[in-house]
Amino acid sequence: MDKKTFYITTPIYYPSAKLHIGHAYCTTIADTIARFKRLAGYEVFFLTGSDEHGQKIQRTAESQGVTPLEYVDKIVESFKELWRRMEISNDDFIRTSEPRHHKVVQEVFRRIRDNGDIYKGEYTGLYCTPCESYWTEIQLDENGCCPDCHRPVEKVSEEAYFFKMSKYADAVLKYLEDNPEFLEPKSRRNEMINFIKQGLEDLCVSRTSFNWGIPVPDDEKHVIYVWFDALTNYLTPIGFLDDAEKFKKYWPADLHLVGKEIVRFHTIIWGCILMALGIELPKKVYGHGWLVIDGGKMSKSKGNVVDPMLLIDEFGADAIRYFLLREITLGLDGNFNRDALIQRINSDLANDLGNLLHRSLNMINKFQKGVLLESSGGTEIDNSLKSEAVETAKEYRALMENLQISDAVKLVWKFISRCNKYIDETAPWKLAKDETQKQNLSNVLYNLAESLRIIAVLISPFMPNTSRRILEQLQVSQDIKLEDAETFGALEVNHKVGKPEQLFPRIELE
Ligand code: MSP
Repeated sequence: MDKKTFYITTPIYYPSAKLHIGHAYCTTIADTIARFKRLAGYEVFFLTGSDEHGQKIQRTAESQGVTPLEYVDKIVESFKELWRRMEISNDDFIRTSEPRHHKVVQEVFRRIRDNGDIYKGEYTGLYCTPCESYWTEIQLDENGCCPDCHRPVEKVSEEAYFFKMSKYADAVLKYLEDNPEFLEPKSRRNEMINFIKQGLEDLCVSRTSFNWGIPVPDDEKHVIYVWFDALTNYLTPIGFLDDAEKFKKYWPADLHLVGKEIVRFHTIIWGCILMALGIELPKKVYGHGWLVIDGGKMSKSKGNVVDPMLLIDEFGADAIRYFLLREITLGLDGNFNRDALIQRINSDLANDLGNLLHRSLNMINKFQKGVLLESSGGTEIDNSLKSEAVETAKEYRALMENLQISDAVKLVWKFISRCNKYIDETAPWKLAKDETQKQNLSNVLYNLAESLRIIAVLISPFMPNTSRRILEQLQVSQDIKLEDAETFGALEVNHKVGKPEQLFPRIELE
């Protein structure tokens, strides 16, 4: 049988500035899902990238005296460096400035135009000449002027291409209504349904006021609208034009993970484009919430933008990943706060997980020279630990399949607490002093090592480095599958574990 496949994407980020912790949040979730799916045996294709065209980038580059490409090249390098340091396991990185992407966008544009769904018309808007920008009535300042430079705007018309969204509005609406799993969470689905019901206008899909973009085929004074260009990125790396087999394997995408404010582009505009192409819609678009700082929006003017690179320098990637995944319920907004991060590191990582590993390995080394001995019999407490381990792994699978990531993290930590309590209940240091309790001691130490092995498997999508370090200290193979966590008793008798090393140092709160 063919292997099950899973195609997951993040939005492609604008290289207008360095990425902040909010961007890292989205990519971390996507990475966790991708890692989970690989662990569960899927053949995964995980895509992220950069959305490089548009007037804003062109202007910023000009103001710095460099070409747009020179400007984005540098920032895109910083994206890649961030993802490397966060251990993001993407299979490809798409840049919209790449020739492979230009080909796809032009072909998509051409096909839709040839079918009559893209036509030439006239775009009329309020234009600010010094800023070279179109504005809508509501965007203007209180004097009816340009919101950027506050100079008067004028009504201008230019030739432009339009995409017949109106033709597909009913079909997209029906699709949303008939396929409840297409857009989650549910609240966003209702928003989109109401949005379409108000009526869809044809979309202007070309611009002539700047040239940093993909030219319209056979009419090169126009460049293709950035969102039309950007959405098409999802087709490029999976062989849309050059590898039919690969395309068949991964399309329709299983999950487009996006922030809530761009759900509309991913369901309505993207839905219409795909329908016009006669291609299936993605299986799911998930609109996650926003990360706010101490309750407020992150912004340069407030000076509260959190740089994930600095956090990684200070606390390590796994601690940041853990915090983001645990604290924020997928779909809802969540708060980032430095003290809360430090508290989680101290209590959940250093204390609960770190101590469990340290105490367990320490006792195995001290009482049995690091060797696991035959386990037999077992008390009620032993049996309840074993069944809780297996149940945790099963429940974890269901939660992760359902994208309840924060619940899955909490579930694993409930089991970690259970293991710590098991140490207190069984008091191996007492058993070690009593010759008649040798078997009980071996059982307890075996069960602890085995529980840690299972924990290492289950946390591998959240905290890949910590998972590897635990497996290393247990001296077991790094080659793991989800099923490895679903049976208790895989470690062999006479297996020798390593010496304990601290996973997370405690951090003093200032
Ligand atoms: N380039 C477009 C996406 C095109 S996808 C075909 C774009 N880029 S962006 O850089 O502005 O945003 C990328 C993603 O980052 C969006 O999904 C957005 O929701 C997310 N976030 C930006 N700030 C965020 C937070 N503070 N919190 C969580 N996600 C945030 O939009």
